[in-house]
Amino acid sequence: MSTTPRGTDRQTAARDHLWGHFTRQSSWEHGVPTIVRGEGHHVWDADGHRLIDGLSGLFVVQLGHGREELAAAAAAQARELAFFPIWSYAHPQAIDLAERLAAHAPGDVNRVFFTTGGGEAVETAWKLAKQYWKLRGRPGKHKVVSRAVAYHGTTQGALSITGLPELKAPFEPLVPGAHKVPNTNAYRAPEHLREDPKAFGRWAADRIAEAIEFEGPETVAAVFLEPVQNAGGCFPPPPGYFERVREICDEHDVLLVSDEVICAFGRIGSIFACEDLGYVPDMITCAKGMTSGYSPIGACLVSDRVFEPFATGTTSFAHGYTFGGHPVSAAVAMANLDLFETEGVVDHVRQNAPVLRRTLERLLDLPIVGDVRGEGFFYGIELVKDTATRETFDDDESERLLRGFLTPALYEAGLYCRADDRGDPVVQLAPPLTCGPAQFDEIEQILRGVLTEAWARL
Ligand SMILES: Cc1ncc(COP(=O)(O)O)c(C=O)c1O
Repeated sequence: MSTTPRGTDRQTAARDHLWGHFTRQSSWEHGVPTIVRGEGHHVWDADGHRLIDGLSGLFVVQLGHGREELAAAAAAQARELAFFPIWSYAHPQAIDLAERLAAHAPGDVNRVFFTTGGGEAVETAWKLAKQYWKLRGRPGKHKVVSRAVAYHGTTQGALSITGLPELKAPFEPLVPGAHKVPNTNAYRAPEHLREDPKAFGRWAADRIAEAIEFEGPETVAAVFLEPVQNAGGCFPPPPGYFERVREICDEHDVLLVSDEVICAFGRIGSIFACEDLGYVPDMITCAKGMTSGYSPIGACLVSDRVFEPFATGTTSFAHGYTFGGHPVSAAVAMANLDLFETEGVVDHVRQNAPVLRRTLERLLDLPIVGDVRGEGFFYGIELVKDTATRETFDDDESERLLRGFLTPALYEAGLYCRADDRGDPVVQLAPPLTCGPAQFDEIEQILRGVLTEAWARL
């Protein structure tokens, strides 16, 4: 991210016409980082600068860049049937993909409602939960419970479920009835629970029971949880957490939605992360890695129990998207899953996850690194002012550290990842699932250099 103006026509056009997502437009004044090509685990910008992709684009590019097989699947499908909706009609690609996803999903999660992305999948799950309870004769059950600092998307329902007040404030009032409970940040757990992960898990799960009881179980439709929470910097569930959450949901007749927009498709290990973590949800939302990013698609997977009242008579779910289950995206998703099988991607992640953990934990010798946490190929590195007291940075320091220094310095040093302060400051990492020890070392070395310099500048 050079700070010298690049002066090309495209730079000017970007500044004049392109609106960046979640971007301070002013940050583009001195150059718009423009990525033009990807190959394997690396991407190149318009100046020929090469970066290792430490975030799989945005938790998306599971199988790496430049995969001919996925590009060919898209081209072949566009030639055969570029588009047809799944409103009243079907096409083979949506049928085959629905069947395949159902086969991967646990328990009786067998029905697939396609969307074009993750936020739409979350929106779909909430609407579906509301209608489900109406059809079951319990119209008062419409509220949802989710966790502090969790991100679930930007549509008004998904944004209500999101636990980041500063993202929501410009758009309030949002959809009412979305309640928040503590997340599973073990590093910031109440002090008396820090040494006892099981007790912390029980405590955190019981906060969900408490919220349902405060609101009244007759008013609560669903609980939305990520298997491993991303925002805040990768919070894996403590032992026993999901077992207890499942019990609580069953006890109170509340649906459990596993928001796997990041965690599905091998990020934690299995195709669906609830499998890795040993629970069976009522719905799974997913997107991102389904096609490794070669074409957009998302889905809300639903259990037989939730589908049942929609199965007969004149009832329908009056909800859908023109591009939901797009034939090109569905064909690419099938090709992506073929590669998962032929290349043994799930086994590769399981075998290499401990190596990634060990490699990143080497950074704990740096005075700025407070915590290294995650699962599978999904990590957060929390930065602190004092590792003994776990003191974090104030807003000004965080602004100078993350935006002012880390983001451009990591880019210059050749690592694309994310320095995030939606919560305490963290560096987020989620490399392509085809990476191995050589790429982990490359990432660690770059981080080591840049974080050492960051500490020296404090
Ligand atoms: C857990 C989770 N849910 C939902 C979303 C929203 O997905 P999308 O950006 O595809 O709408 C995201 C995006 O990062 C996410 O991480």
